[in-house]
Amino acid sequence: MKRLDDFRLQLGKHELVPIMVGGMGVDISTSMLALEAARLGGIGHISDAMVPTVSDRRYDTSYVKTKLKQYKLNVASSDKSSVKFDLGLLAEATKKHVDHAMGAKRGEGLVFINCMEKLTMNAPKDTLRVRLASAMDAGIDGITLAAGLHLGSFALIEDHPRFRDVKLGIIVSSLRALQLFIKKIARTNRLPDYIVIEGPLAGGHLGFGMDWAQYDLATITQEIRDWLRVEQLNIPILPAGGIFTGSDAVRFMEMGAAGVQVATRFTATKECGLPDDVKQEYFKVAEEGIEVNTISPTGYPMRMLKNSPAIGDGIRPNCEAYGYLLDASGNCQYIDAYNREVAAHPGAKKIHVMAKTCLCTQMRNFKCWTCGHYTYRLKDTTRQNPDGSYQLLTAEHVFHDYQFSTDDRIALPD
Ligand SMILES: Cc1cc2nc3c(=O)[nH]c(=O)nc-3n(C[C@H](O)[C@H](O)[C@H](O)COP(=O)(O)O)c2cc1C
Repeated sequence: MKRLDDFRLQLGKHELVPIMVGGMGVDISTSMLALEAARLGGIGHISDAMVPTVSDRRYDTSYVKTKLKQYKLNVASSDKSSVKFDLGLLAEATKKHVDHAMGAKRGEGLVFINCMEKLTMNAPKDTLRVRLASAMDAGIDGITLAAGLHLGSFALIEDHPRFRDVKLGIIVSSLRALQLFIKKIARTNRLPDYIVIEGPLAGGHLGFGMDWAQYDLATITQEIRDWLRVEQLNIPILPAGGIFTGSDAVRFMEMGAAGVQVATRFTATKECGLPDDVKQEYFKVAEEGIEVNTISPTGYPMRMLKNSPAIGDGIRPNCEAYGYLLDASGNCQYIDAYNREVAAHPGAKKIHVMAKTCLCTQMRNFKCWTCGHYTYRLKDTTRQNPDGSYQLLTAEHVFHDYQFSTDDRIALPD
């Protein structure tokens, strides 16, 4: 049987190991993780989700404090429409994050950034334009457009000097979404350089409804592959979601994929940004301990561990500090859910909000444990320590296991 290393991903002039480590916000796919994937000849992703916050933690800036100070008087108000991001500071934070990663890059691989459209930041177009342009200014190799249809995203950056040289990709979960995207960007006279096809078993937000279980990645991949052939569009496709072994990946390569995007297995690595005690929760979880729910204020279903501390937590909305999910009118579904609970329990010291979660604060604090469907298999990829905890892996170990394994085998660490 073939192994993934028998294939190469051709992306422009780059010939790569066909493994793309997917973006995982907020700083779960750290620059350390992305850099390892690039060093080993593949593609790694950093994420621009909540990048000012990430910068504060990593590079000792104080963007969050500054924003909170500016909007302090608004904290008690449920009208968040005035709480805006300073676009200059947003650009600075993005550049710092990208600069840091690109400056440390070694090897033949590439470092991309994952940009989610659903981070509407109380000024969707302006903030997205700044995020995309600043990443390009700072020399990012590529941008993966995620969590949204991105029908206007190419147009936002078509005047940027790097628009035709930076690699631009889109994540879709259906042929229909891809067709819409291709139609909308026709005017810019530029096609995406790659398409990630994300199926229903992925981590993070899903591009499906709560009927996600009725879909499967192989079928969607075939539909998209066949349509691209008919349209004579030669764009590399990378399936994602539930590709757990090198052999799973090979099956997609034999179907015509140019590479695969994977993430869950890398959550068990030292380079992953989750705190170590949370990584142990990922190892320990059983299949029944994982659910897809609707608590994300984005409106997309999201997969997570059922024991995530975020579920049912009733903290006060924290938009003055964060506010990444405020829509164009300054609304967030969590604010509404929170206000309903407060009104229903007057005087209560602590409330529980089950309908939605304050995703910014919970992701920032690693309390929303989003994960892929096969997270319950992580325990089979490592060894258990005498105290019952699981041994963390290195990104190199997991990357090589995808690259070289055959017959659905998973190599355990030494
Ligand atoms: C913890 C976690 C966080 C994720 N966060 C994001 C994200 O911020 N943006 C995004 O586009 N995809 C996100 N994803 C999806 C991955 O990038 C990837 O496409 C998918 O999980 C691949 O499937 P796998 O995890 O089964 O390998 C996340 C996945 C995980 C496991």
